[in-house]
Amino acid sequence: MDSIPANRRLWNRISSAYQHEHDPQTGATPRLWGMYSIPDAHLHALGDVTGKRVLELGCGAGQWSRALAAEGATVVRLDLSEAQLAAAARAMGAARYPLVQGAAEQLPFAADSFDLVFCDFGGLSWAPPHLAVPQAARVLSRGGRLVFNVASPWFEACYDEAASRVTTTLQQDYFGLSTIAEGDGATSYQLTYGDWVKVLRGAGLIIDDLIEPRPELGTPNGYNETDPPDWAHRWPAELLWVTHKP
Ligand SMILES: C[S@@+](CC[C@H](N)C(=O)[O-])C[C@H]1O[C@@H](n2cnc3c(N)ncnc32)[C@H](O)[C@@H]1O
Repeated sequence: MDSIPANRRLWNRISSAYQHEHDPQTGATPRLWGMYSIPDAHLHALGDVTGKRVLELGCGAGQWSRALAAEGATVVRLDLSEAQLAAAARAMGAARYPLVQGAAEQLPFAADSFDLVFCDFGGLSWAPPHLAVPQAARVLSRGGRLVFNVASPWFEACYDEAASRVTTTLQQDYFGLSTIAEGDGATSYQLTYGDWVKVLRGAGLIIDDLIEPRPELGTPNGYNETDPPDWAHRWPAELLWVTHKP
């Protein structure tokens, strides 16, 4: 839980610049996954949300939740950062729904509150998964789904800190990936494939799919430089886990 205050400070500080840079991409059309904005219509991760109780874990400005609310889901949006929640409030439009300040590590909801918990580089990238996954499982109802997209271990292991880009050279130890320093004490998290499986199964979840989103050749990465530019067409940059609570 040590990273909660520093991560909150980081996201409060960068929120405005982040939204200025990325909202045109993340909010361009509904249901876009990850750094390459791959439509969910191609990946089939989330399914029909009509009438479902949905929690977005680390919602940012809520581009995803806006889309799901418009489709008829009952959406709750949680984020650690008040600046990000303020951006979400400004972008909410006519349809009002709850914005909750909180941490993925300690969700302020009763058990069995949601049919779907999901995020896209949200709470499961920015909270220790061994704390956040059991919390997500706790608030799901039986049959409810946890679906989330994170950076792949390949992407993190090939990230060259000094050059600020992803390369074809292994830069970090695969088995040393667990925490990633984001500056000023802020931290993001990464697990090996085996540890993701252990954490998800340990929380009582069934793994239904592990989608490896693959951008078409020429699709730009809106967040990170890669060398070569078609890196993510050749190696998996993201892991999109699809799980459910039995
Ligand atoms: C990269 S954004 C993801 C949001 C959105 N999907 C997007 O792409 O803009 C990460 C979000 O996670 C939030 N966050 C960071 N740490 C968190 C935590 N421990 N619990 C919940 N949210 C957290 C940040 O405030 C930020 O809004």
